[in-house]
Amino acid sequence: MSRTKTAAPSTREVVGEKIDIGIPQVNLKKIADMLNENLADEYVLLTKTKKYHWNVMDPRFNDLHKFLDEQYQLLNTAVDEVAERVRQMGGMTKATLKEFLASTQIEEDPGTNPNADTMLRNLLTGHEAVIKSLRKILKNANN
Ligand SMILES: [Fe+2]
Repeated sequence: MSRTKTAAPSTREVVGEKIDIGIPQVNLKKIADMLNENLADEYVLLTKTKKYHWNVMDPRFNDLHKFLDEQYQLLNTAVDEVAERVRQMGGMTKATLKEFLASTQIEEDPGTNPNADTMLRNLLTGHEAVIKSLRKILKNANN
């Protein structure tokens, strides 16, 4: 049985090169590329949050440990949504640590664990960077 024109598009059509949501193909690629850069930042921030969740040492350990786990869960959801949006725009998601590290602006701190206040400050700086990136994407997507 063939589909009518009003039927929902197949998954292949949604993620394929012929996606038509009123955005020219060249702009779809630009948006997907920008989202991929943001994905790298969010993934590295996700990993950094988990590192701090595991390694925080502080009299407030229980609260910080729980807070950082909640942050990790929220970021994990956001990462998944961004990655799937890249695919919806016809792009392929970065999906390896090597790719993420090659393009992220988030700095890691391997081999060290700052004090809890510095951890929180570092994560805040990371979230600010992600927000600035998203604002830039939004501005460009509207042009
Ligand atoms: Fe945990």
